This record gives sequence, structure tokens and C-alpha cells, in this order.
Amino acid sequence: MYNAKKSKKKFKEMNNILITGGAGFIGSHLIRHFIKHYPDYKIINLDKLTYAGNLENLRDIENAKNYHFVKGDICDFNFVKELMELHQINSIIHLAAESHVDRSISNPMEFVNTNVVGTVNLLNVAKAYWSEDYDNKLFYLVSTDEVYGSLGETGLFTETTPYDPRSPYSASKASADHFVRAYQHTYDMPVKLSNCSNNYGSYQFPEKLLPLFINNIKHNKNLPVYGNGKYTRDWLWVVDHARAIDAVYHKGKMGETYNIGGFNEWQNIDLIHLLIEQMDTKLGRPEGTSKELITYVKDRPGHDKRYAIDANKIKNELGWQPSVTFEEGLDKTIDWYLKNEDWLNNVTSGNYQTYYQKQYTKQ
Ligand code: NAD
Ligand code: DAU
Repeated sequence: MYNAKKSKKKFKEMNNILITGGAGFIGSHLIRHFIKHYPDYKIINLDKLTYAGNLENLRDIENAKNYHFVKGDICDFNFVKELMELHQINSIIHLAAESHVDRSISNPMEFVNTNVVGTVNLLNVAKAYWSEDYDNKLFYLVSTDEVYGSLGETGLFTETTPYDPRSPYSASKASADHFVRAYQHTYDMPVKLSNCSNNYGSYQFPEKLLPLFINNIKHNKNLPVYGNGKYTRDWLWVVDHARAIDAVYHKGKMGETYNIGGFNEWQNIDLIHLLIEQMDTKLGRPEGTSKELITYVKDRPGHDKRYAIDANKIKNELGWQPSVTFEEGLDKTIDWYLKNEDWLNNVTSGNYQTYYQKQYTKQ
């Protein structure tokens, strides 16, 4: 397994890291991981705090000495450049994005602005700030398996699968990936990319399948299953994604792409049945009670049939693999949402958006 401690020395100098989108779901887990494992690194979290950004996700580490939050937009060249100069940033791990497929269908332009324009803007800032010297520099883009399109019944996405994005979200992410590679080829920028499958875990905004359904089961609300429910996703515990990003950041080859996945495919409807089984037990309801909540609804337009990742490159070359089984990860995840009622209530009521005011207006 990847040993974070061993690699510390190798990257001692690359220690002022700008993480974008750190108040979101995956970003907050990544920051928590880096703060814990790399106390010598300075972590700057740049986040615009859109509806998906929630500083309550980072409450447990917000006072850490090596952590600093800055509210700002990745599309603002001067602001980001000043930030990079101020903190002498030598690497960027870029996660900030609009991330929900359904929102991309109703409002594609937001996705173009943040995911494409924002990424190119960040690349331009990095180029302007680093161009004199790319030694010990890194631009790392965290991307998605959705860029590869949709699989049939068989086969897996590998790092050489041709791009075939099919939703506005995946098209915007694919575009960002292409720009990052273009900056490497054209300007010699040191880059790395990873493309990951569906993440699940704590602090995920309850618009995505698992937290939405956990919340709905808890409140006896309908579970809106798109289409016939026979769509397949490959699920990975978010903490394991953070570990994988760490491995790529420290040990991945410059200029390369790593696919990250859970070796864990589930059809939506089977996953929903497993969730119901675990939740009915935890909530003390007779087995299968919550099955009544399943409601088949209109399908997502252009719904991708199947995603599945071949994660053997990162496994074989970097020694990473998932640390938990899906059943364990799901169990921990359900427990977290049931225990953290306040977090869920604040998110569903919108109260979390006042946290920034309370916490940061005193600065
Ligand atoms: P998220 O929606 O939970 O978080 C996105 C964060 O980006 C939010 O905190 C938001 O405030 C911030 N942000 C948005 N626009 C911004 C801007 N213009 N400037 C600064 N900050 C901005 O997303 P997530 O699920 O944590 O995903 C993070 C990244 O990982 C995304 O790039 C996504 O495409 C990718 N990804 C996600 C998954 C998944 O299953 N969730 C899987 C693979 C890859
Ligand atoms: O594969 C990686 C991607 O996974 C990430 O890049 C995206 O940011 C992330 O949102 C996720 O995309 P999906 O579209 O796969 O995730 P979502 O949770 O929206 O949906 C998972 C599956 O469940 C999908 O087949 C659609 C279905 N679904 C979703 C919702 C929200 C439903 O049936 N009902 C629902 O209400």
C-alpha cells in the first residue's frame, strides 16, 4: 500500500499547495488528508463557495497551522495570481468545478465558465507565475471517468480509451483535460491528471444519488429512480480517492494520467436495494419497509449506461488500492449521515451558507 510518510522527503520542497474547490465534497476530504499526513506542507484552499461549497465540511481542521482558506473565483486571473505570489505556490491540485450532471443539462453555460474557462485561467496564471522556472512545479487536474463516455455490457475504461463525453458536464471536463495536456505539450508545463469513478462518503451534497437517497429514506420520502434503474456505476469511497490523489501527486509520473476506481460496479437498482437493507436495519424498521419508497421517474436525458474503471495502472505502478470494501464504506457513510443530522439539516435548509459570514467576517 502507498506509504505517505516515505514520500514526504522526496517532495519536501514542493510544499505550498493550492487546492481549488477544497470546500466541496472531495476537496474537503483531500485537504483533511494532506493536513493530517503532511504537517510541513502549507495548504491553501481556494473556493468560491458556490451552493456546493460548504466550510462546515472542514470545521475539524479549519484552525490547523498549515491550512488557510481563501474565498475566490478560479476565473479571476489577477486575484489568483496575487494569491499564488503571496503564498509562493509551487503546485496546484485543481478540483473546483460544477460537478452535477443534472445541473449541467439545465444550465450548461455555468459548466463552460467554471470547468473550461476557469481551468484555462488557472493554467494561464500558473504559466505566468512559474514560466521562469518549472522545477518542482506541478499542475494536477482531478477529473472524471465520464470523459470516456458510456460502456456497453462489457469492457472497462483504461487510460487510453478515446474520449467520448456525452453530457454538458462531461464535455466540459473533457475540454479541461485537453487544455491541461495542451499546456504540457505547448508550454512544457509539468502536469498530471487522474480520472475517477463515482465517489461516495461523508460531506457529499445531497443532490447526488447516495446522500439524497439516505436522506429520503430517513424521512420516508420517495426515492426517484431514473429510467429503469439499470444503469451501472463504479463506486469508490471518497477517502480512498484522496489517498489515490496523494499517490499520484507524490509518485505519479509527470505528464501521465491515472484512472482511479473502486473495482466495484453496481447497477443503481441493486445499490438502492442494498442501501435500503442497511438503512432499514439501522433505523429499526422491519426488513424491506423502505422498498415502498422506490419511485421510477423520467430518465435523465442522455443518461450514460455504464461506467467502469480499469484501475490497474495506479494499483500496479503506484501501489494504491481501495482500503475498504463497498459494504464497509457504505456502512460508515450511512452512519455518518445519520449521526450528523445538523450537517444534513443545514445543507437541506440552506443554513450552511451563513457559516462563512459567521466564521470569516471577523478577519
Ligand atoms: P463539489 O460540487 O462537491 O465541489 C466543487 C467545489 O468547487 C465547491 O466547493 C465549489 O464551491 C467550488 N467551486 C465551484 N466553482 C468555483 C469557482 N469558479 N472558483 C472556485 N471554486 C469553485 O464537487 P466534488 O464532487 O467534490 O468534485 C470535485 C472534483 O472532482 C470535480 O472537478 C469533479 O469533476 C471531480 N470528480 C468528482 C467525482 C464525484 O464522484 N463526485 C468523481 C470524479 C471526479
Ligand atoms: O463518474 C464520476 C461522476 O460521478 C462524477 O464526475 C460526477 O461529478 C458525479 O456527480 C457522478 O456522476 P453521476 O451522474 O454518475 O452521479 P449521480 O449521483 O448524479 O447519479 C448516479 C446514478 O444514479 C446515475 O445513473 C443517475 C442515477 N440517479 C441519480 C439521482 C440524483 C437516479 O436514478 N436518481 C437520482 O435522483
